[in-house]
Amino acid sequence: MTTCSSPRFRVERHLCPVGEDERRALLRAPGFGQVFTDHMATIGYSEDRGWHDATIGPRQALCLDPAALVCHYAQEIYEGMKAYRLDGGGTELFRPDANAQRFRRSAARLAMPLLPEVLFTESVRALVRVENAWIPSTQGHALYLRPFMVAIESARGVRASTDYLYCVVASPVRVYFSRRVVAVTLWVSDKFTRAAPGGTGDVKCGGNYAAGLSAQAEAIREQCDQAIFLDAVERRWVEELGGMNVFFVFADGSIQTPPLNGTILAGITRESLIALADDIGLIVREESYSIDQWQDDAKSGRLQESFACGTAAVVAPIGEVRGRKHRFTIGDGDGDGDGDGGPDPITERLKYTLTDIQLGRAADTHGWLDRLS
Ligand code: PLP
Ligand code: COI
Repeated sequence: MTTCSSPRFRVERHLCPVGEDERRALLRAPGFGQVFTDHMATIGYSEDRGWHDATIGPRQALCLDPAALVCHYAQEIYEGMKAYRLDGGGTELFRPDANAQRFRRSAARLAMPLLPEVLFTESVRALVRVENAWIPSTQGHALYLRPFMVAIESARGVRASTDYLYCVVASPVRVYFSRRVVAVTLWVSDKFTRAAPGGTGDVKCGGNYAAGLSAQAEAIREQCDQAIFLDAVERRWVEELGGMNVFFVFADGSIQTPPLNGTILAGITRESLIALADDIGLIVREESYSIDQWQDDAKSGRLQESFACGTAAVVAPIGEVRGRKHRFTIGDGDGDGDGDGGPDPITERLKYTLTDIQLGRAADTHGWLDRLS
């Protein structure tokens, strides 16, 4: 494998990029993942050449042999991260090193080659520099980056590929839930589980998301926004949503989130919020919480708020939880604490503590921002 201390990306500019007027129109209402930028980053990998041909080039369809291993055995991993336009000018990536490290953990779990951290971060930086004009300025919008890696060797045996393609695409986005969703409604998935001990729940591979789609479809049929998964062994402990971690906020001001026990993704937003909650003096527990206890505590008022969090969703209040055996409202169900227009509840406070740092409005005391020149 080649190691790369100072990676250079060959830049091939798109000959017909989206025009400025069209781009501005697209940036006004980008949705989530509906608009893509002009370029992409790619790096090849083969056993004999190692990592090679690091390129920023026009975004185009991938040319894959139908026998490529990813098409059959789902050897694929990905990351999700954002570039923000800072209030005071300039742009930043939020904790790209954490994404690079998680990408390596995911690769190790799926028997894929480990992309050097510097290649990961430089691929994203180089793409964002070329696509600078695509970074939205609108409050709450950002340039969402999707690094991923697929197994491209044509083979039939069930084994790890010898060849891979690493790629990064970018899209300007609003937050995951549209503004019409004030507080999300969750469907308790008691039929489908997402991850079992020893499985791949703690890494970011496409297969986890495919396995969650039936639960998500059920949630939509039940007129909920998202499915929430319970542990696969006892079907009792709240784990996470299909693409977000979950937090519980109690009347005594403490907060709790399920522990990283091997079946939950170690969210970078989760970890950042734990650090920020600690900074502001909240008691934080990483402890299991059962669905029955959640219901009891919501009904008794011991629990005041709950929220989902992740790069795409940022911090999204949970208003209601429903399932075949459960039905409860969090607070008054509108995601703004007591709903009286009074002081921001803890969910709001944590959200703005995080986003103020991401937008350069508050001091980056943890050194999380990777400012791009
Ligand atoms: N859990 C799952 C299953 C996810 O897909 C994500 C999103 O990436 C998260 C949690 C939140 O992770 P992060 O905060 O790193 O985006
Ligand atoms: C992210 O937050 O980056 C994810 O990958 C989650 C997905 C629901 C978009």
